[in-house]
Amino acid sequence: MKTRLNVNIDHVATVRQARRTIEPSIVAAAVACEKAGADGITVHLRQDRRHIQDRDVRLLREILTTYLNVEMAVHPEMISIALEVKPDAVTLVPEKPQEITTEGGLNIAENFDEVQKTVARLRDAGIFTSIFVDPDTKQIELAKRAGANQVELCTAQYSEFTLPGKSVHGEGLMKARSELRRLAEAARHATNLGLIVAAGHGLTYRNVGAIASIKEISELNIGHNIIARSIFVGLERAVKEMLEAIRRGKQEGAI
Ligand code: PXP
Repeated sequence: MKTRLNVNIDHVATVRQARRTIEPSIVAAAVACEKAGADGITVHLRQDRRHIQDRDVRLLREILTTYLNVEMAVHPEMISIALEVKPDAVTLVPEKPQEITTEGGLNIAENFDEVQKTVARLRDAGIFTSIFVDPDTKQIELAKRAGANQVELCTAQYSEFTLPGKSVHGEGLMKARSELRRLAEAARHATNLGLIVAAGHGLTYRNVGAIASIKEISELNIGHNIIARSIFVGLERAVKEMLEAIRRGKQEGAI
């Protein structure tokens, strides 16, 4: 099965918002990603609007020829934007005002009724609904009960253990392998429940291969590492290199 790549372009907007100006253009970035072969674009419309703005989501909806996935908190304001703009997919994520980035999966149990109601509203509007969860059996089962189409497994822990200095020998590598097994088991479990499986967070050119080799994972959402590399090689080449790293990972398998 093909592993689709959605490029998360939040940090193009981060650079723009640093000066509250018009450049770099989110539309130009999305077009460059599509031209390079990306299967879709992901953006996170945060309640604090620190990077992506409402207008960006509307513009992307108009110009994208591939697929638009919008990450958002389970919050009435966000959901009404989704119902109006109608992206192809919404990914429900937890959000804390002070966090640097999303810190882990949504704890569905904490707010089950609200999550279930939100998923129903999105699905009734024809929007494919994904929930970002830790690779945890209970959360995956709750995502299914809530009516989600897909779970996106959080790879943050795995990614943390593969950072340079932690991964070379010993502990870091062992922990990364153990987290990889946890992700593979979670992906199998979700598939058996009839859920589609995505993954993302903290993935890099160096660590994406092993995740891409998990055959149940059909979509990856990758942002920061691609945008970081694009500073040196341009966005199109950065996306192509990630597509190549995914392709190689599928061929070669584990770390
Ligand atoms: N998936 C989800 C649910 C996220 O919140 C993020 C970060 O916005 C990503 C994937 C992409 O993470 P990264 O920027 O580390 O590649």
